[in-house]
Amino acid sequence: MHADRTLARVLEEHLTGWARDNDVTVEIWALPARDVPAEVTGALLATLEEALSNVLRHSGADVVSVAVTLGQAGLRMTVSDNGAGLYGSAVGRGVAAMRGHFAGVGGTLSVKGVPGGGTTVTGTVPIGRLGR
Ligand SMILES: Nc1ncnc2c1ncn2[C@@H]1O[C@H](COP(=O)(O)OP(=O)(O)OP(=O)(O)O)[C@@H](O)[C@H]1O
Ligand SMILES: [Mg+2]
Repeated sequence: MHADRTLARVLEEHLTGWARDNDVTVEIWALPARDVPAEVTGALLATLEEALSNVLRHSGADVVSVAVTLGQAGLRMTVSDNGAGLYGSAVGRGVAAMRGHFAGVGGTLSVKGVPGGGTTVTGTVPIGRLGR
């Protein structure tokens, strides 16, 4: 999957297309400097899709900031919007699916919102699951 493009390129194209189609500004803070195993790429893209669909359906945000960083501790993806935020915790099929995608590659995921202050989805994958 996406064998001819880097992970950074795949993410950038996906986000640029989504921003254009949905008239929401996407700020890309960081993109990963190297590739990861295909199963991790799959988990990232599936989670991104679910998180962005929640931004559209629930947040009313006009800006989403996305960062995917790869460091000594592993990979970290954050999707942060400036919308309505959460009153209580986010519970539903979509959040469970995002958790499942990250759990499937040995990682964890959380959804945190501040009432009136936006929502952030954070997923991490430990370095040991990233190969090399
Ligand atoms: N970015 C967000 N901004 C505001 N509220 C959110 C956001 N993401 C999730 N939520 C809240 O968390 C709930 C659970 O999200 P989840 O994706 O699990 O379910 P859903 O979007 O309602 O349905 P679906 O199963 O189709 O994804 C949402 O119904 C919404 O109330
Ligand atoms: Mg959802």
